[in-house]
Amino acid sequence: MSTAADTTEPHTAEVQLPEVKMHIYRPNEPVVARIAKSEVCTARKAAGFVRHVEFDVSGTNLVGQVLPGQSIGVIAPGVDAKGRPHAVRLYSVASPSRGEDGQGRVISTTVKRTIDEHWETHKLFLGVASNHLCDLSVGDEVRLSGPNGKRFLVPAKPGEHDYLFFATGTGIAPFRGMVLDLLKSGVQSRVVLVMGSPYSTDLMYDDLFRRLAAEHSNFTYLTAISREKQDDAGGGGPRLYVQDRVLTHRDRFEPLLAGERTLVYICGLAGMEMGIFQNMARVLPPSALEQYLHIDPAVRGDIASWDRKMLNKQIKATRRVFLEVYA
Ligand code: A2P
Repeated sequence: MSTAADTTEPHTAEVQLPEVKMHIYRPNEPVVARIAKSEVCTARKAAGFVRHVEFDVSGTNLVGQVLPGQSIGVIAPGVDAKGRPHAVRLYSVASPSRGEDGQGRVISTTVKRTIDEHWETHKLFLGVASNHLCDLSVGDEVRLSGPNGKRFLVPAKPGEHDYLFFATGTGIAPFRGMVLDLLKSGVQSRVVLVMGSPYSTDLMYDDLFRRLAAEHSNFTYLTAISREKQDDAGGGGPRLYVQDRVLTHRDRFEPLLAGERTLVYICGLAGMEMGIFQNMARVLPPSALEQYLHIDPAVRGDIASWDRKMLNKQIKATRRVFLEVYA
């Protein structure tokens, strides 16, 4: 899932990531944890069902070993239509490094119920793992594996960088943990979080981020609501996406992106990364842009024509860009 590019330029290679543990528990030998909390993390009126779910992993080898940006496997009980045990589903960790409890014993994720209609039969389709997780109550057992992932992380020396986080939907999960880590650690890094959702009622952890922004002058929280009119949409409305914030708040993004310490993290719907790259290319001079993107001269002049198929070919992200996108 992680698609960070592998370039080795000197100015990009110096981003050192922390060493992390992986696969402490395999999906075929999961560990049993208990639900410590489960609460809606959107507004009550949201059309979808999204929960912040906490797992108490006390007494397991997961204690203190799970970082935001990694994911954790959830194995739903029972078997699938073919009689096989359900496959593991990976959920992005939303808790900070020290866990929700400050001691690494309680980790969390952000989960949206997958609810759909079968295309042909028009029968209800319910995603197995997401609905299992959202159905669980405090005290219930849950089978976990992992952690997984070692690339989508905040660097080992977080104070040496500034951060631009772009999220759509539940892509916010890792940034909740990362923002909490950064702001609680006392580093003076500049941190900008841009969160995109269809309606303002769909924003996740909105109260938390607003409070953090009020408390920390180095933290900026911006939202991009795609299906509501917004007063500060500039000329970009009515459909405002996270990448449009690079233009509506150009005075903020341009100096940040031009800086030599800035890292860009993108998590959410596949497609958002190209929109972000295009707008970065529109506001940055070539010398600043090349900190993040290597662009084939043949397509350099025609930003509007860039599309996802060019990724890792004509347009390659450097190590200053961290990508976690999914269909
Ligand atoms: P929309 O669906 O209105 O076009 P969620 O995962 O909760 O549905 O939210 C995803 C958000 O990301 C929505 O606001 C959605 O807008 C938006 N979105 C969809 N496609 C892109 C894209 N290519 N780039 C950025 N944002 C996108």
